[in-house]
Formats: sequence, C-alpha cells, structure tokens
Amino acid sequence: MKSKWLAGALTLMLAGGVASAQGATITIACGAVGQELQLCKQETEAWAKKTGNTVKVLETPQLTNNRLALYQQNLSAGNSDIDIYQIDVIHPGILGSFFIDLRPLIPAADISVQNQGIIANNTYDGKLIAMPWFTDGGVLYYRTDLLKKYGFKEPPTTWAQMFLMAKVIQAGERKANPNFYGFVYQGNAYEGLTCDALEWIASYGGGTIVDDKGNVTINNPKAIEALNFIAQNSKQVSPPGVTTYDEEAARGVFQSGNAAFMRNWPYAYSLGESAGSAVKGKLAVAPLPHGPGGQSVGTLGGWQLAVSKFSKHQKEAADLVAYLSSEAVQKQRAIEGSFQPTIPALYKDPEVLKAVPFFKDISGRVPVARPSTVTGAKYNQVSTAFWNAVHSVLTGQMDGKAALSGLATQLNQIKGPGW
Ligand code: GLC
Repeated sequence: MKSKWLAGALTLMLAGGVASAQGATITIACGAVGQELQLCKQETEAWAKKTGNTVKVLETPQLTNNRLALYQQNLSAGNSDIDIYQIDVIHPGILGSFFIDLRPLIPAADISVQNQGIIANNTYDGKLIAMPWFTDGGVLYYRTDLLKKYGFKEPPTTWAQMFLMAKVIQAGERKANPNFYGFVYQGNAYEGLTCDALEWIASYGGGTIVDDKGNVTINNPKAIEALNFIAQNSKQVSPPGVTTYDEEAARGVFQSGNAAFMRNWPYAYSLGESAGSAVKGKLAVAPLPHGPGGQSVGTLGGWQLAVSKFSKHQKEAADLVAYLSSEAVQKQRAIEGSFQPTIPALYKDPEVLKAVPFFKDISGRVPVARPSTVTGAKYNQVSTAFWNAVHSVLTGQMDGKAALSGLATQLNQIKGPGW
C-alpha cells in the first residue's frame, strides 16, 4: 500500500516537473501582410524549440488602423491573453502606457546595435516600450521591360514624368491587355493613404500636415497643387477601384503584370521576384518621384515588438522579443521577405544586398515621418481626418482647395489648446 502511494506521489511530482519544464505559453499578435504571418510562425517556432516554451501566433487585421482598434480594445480591457503586440511606428504615443519597459529585460548590446532614431521613437515616458523589428519606406516599383519597350531610358524622377510614361505605356499595352493600368497605389480611406498622400505633398514642398512645433500647416498652395495633380492624373492611369486599394490590392495588380508603376513598401520586392510572379526579373525599385522644385521622399513606416503590462509571462515574452529583433532573425527576414532591417550593420551584409540589391541605395532615400510624435495620443484622429480629406479629392467629391481648408479647421479643433 505504502509503496503504491509513494509511486503515485512520484508520478505526480514528475508530472509537475514536466509541466514546468514545458515553460510558458506566449501569445503574439503578428501582422498578416504578404509573408508576415508565415515568417512570424516560423521564427517564433524556432524560439519555442530552443527555449522549451510554446508560442501561439494571433493573426491580426491587415490594415494598421483596424489593428490599432483591436489592440485598444484588448489593452483598455486589461486583457492578459496577448503577451506581445506588433505595433506600428506611429503607435508608441497612442499605446505606450500599456507596455512594459524592456531595458531591464533585454541585453544592452541588443539595444545599442539598433537604429537609435527608432529607439528614440519607441521611448515613451522614458521607457523603451518596444524593440524595432523592421523599418519601412515608400518606394516606386517599375517595370524595366516596359520602360525599355517604350523607349524610356531611366525611371521617372518627377510625378509629371511618371504620369507621362504611365499614359504612354498604358495606351500601348491596352492594345493586347484591356486590364492594364499605368499606376497603382494605396487609395483606400485608411492609414496607407495617409502615407501615400504625405509623400505627394511633402515631395511638392507642401510640408507634413502638422509641423514639428505642432502647427497645422496642411492648408497651403503646394499641398493643394499636389493633391489636385495626383487626383486628376490618377483618374487617367489608375484602376477605378484604386480608391479601395490597400498594399496587397496594389501588389496583386502589379505582380500579375497589369501595371507599369506601383507605390509600395519593400516587402513587395521579394514577392515580385518569387517563383510564379508574372513580373519576376522585370521589376526594379527607385525613389518615389517629386513635385516641381521639391525633393523625393518616402514615408517612414515600420513595426516594433512590445510586451503588454498585463502579460503573465513578461520575462519570457521579452526574451522572444529580443530573439525576433536580433541581427540573425532580421537578416533572415531581409533575405526571405525583403523586410528592411532596423540594425544598420545589416545594410553592409553581402548576403542581404545580394537578395535585395536596392537596400544598398537606402541612403539615397529621404524619409518623411508622419506627425505622430508631435500629435501624440491624437495622431489617429489627425490621420483619419487627413485620409478622409484626401479620399474625397481622389473620388472627385471635392477639389484640393476645399478639402484642405476644411481639413485645417478640423485639425485645429482636434488640437484644441494643444496636442
Ligand atoms: C506599412 C508601414 C506602416 C504603415 C502602413 C500603412 O505597414 O510599415 O508604418 O502605417 O504600412 O498601411
């Protein structure tokens, strides 16, 4: 009897021992654009194997503003189910108070190899609330074969040149392919349109919606000119549905061989060059065009990893964040998915540059930041008002002048006595 009882107790103890060796279950909310979800699953699985923990990957909506709404719902309810959130570069000021300080949990060397501008962006109330995972910048994709076919030696440097080329190529290609368009971009009413329209306006010298001091600057002649010009020309060379397009919709048209130019982020490169893509070997990347007298810019995007203050496994979650943001994983993601590293040394890595040649010209691309730092927790309201105003010009409901003067009034109301 006695020995039976002992054996039973031993089994229990062993079971207990096994359970604790299995470690924690970490849930991560990952993005799902292009290859994001698949790569997130692979990478977190590798960490789980290495550490004996378990990882659950939660698929989140594709549009960043829908993702923000989901995050806000969970976090303001104090939900502990999600340990790690993949957050946008514009989110620290909105969500920062819900995340833990990672500095005490992540080796200092892992932080110092990162781009320090992004580290500063991810610092909220003196705390490092997220580790940089990948950065982003808007670029112009073009069809090298079609530029050549129609006698254009170089990619366009101004918007006027781009639309001219787009019209010529579209007219020629339509003879054989009625579904062919000159230019695709992110025209839906969402954060992606804020990114595209900021590029148009800033590249005309029309500023950044709200300046660094917090002044609403959007109602100016250059911004109006930029919007009117893009809207008029886009009607001629973009699909009628472009005003419902996000990144993936634009990529779908370009990658199936039905567009000459596309505005998108770097992730579209490796997919465009993948087996089965109709444009494999026929695409290249250039800085975005600029307006008269302006300079080429690309909106600064990118994603970070943050640990929820409601997580019951903060130590393990921080370890997974350190792993995912490490040089080795970022290198792999750059090679497999053309995700732009946040570790400057990787831009000199021969294997990375072989997989994504345009990363070597990164210094020639001028980033323009959305006004998320200066507008803080109100950024999403500012951006929503902006993308709606731009959308009303693209859909022909308003002209640039009326839309931007109304927008300025609205933004000053949101600002109130200060941001
Ligand atoms: C990309 C960028 C992100 C931006 C989003 C807009 O994911 O990295 O910063 O907000 O596109 O659609």
